[in-house]
Amino acid sequence: MLQVTFIEHDGTTHQVAAPPERTLMQIALDNGVPGILGDCGGSCSCATCHAYVDARWIDQLPPVSETEVFMLEGVPDPRENSRLCCQIRMQAALDGIVVRLPQEQV
Ligand code: FES
Repeated sequence: MLQVTFIEHDGTTHQVAAPPERTLMQIALDNGVPGILGDCGGSCSCATCHAYVDARWIDQLPPVSETEVFMLEGVPDPRENSRLCCQIRMQAALDGIVVRLPQEQV
């Protein structure tokens, strides 16, 4: 089983199992990780699944769509490594990915 590590803003760490093809947003909700809300169900229209992807995995991520770019413009404290967790599906190349959660969602 693949793994994901979510790190909350206060440093609390959640290392969880990550089934292939499940999105990081779904995986966070499956495991009760606080800080990922996923209000729109993963349709890239709420931005409540914003997180910062650790630099090591940035090159492995799927490209950012225009819609995701637009949604990320509205999040608090956007950064170069900001992504929406519902747009990232687990695959072998992302095994061990580390994502840090923002202090607050939209
Ligand atoms: S869950 Fe709504 S944008 Fe990701």
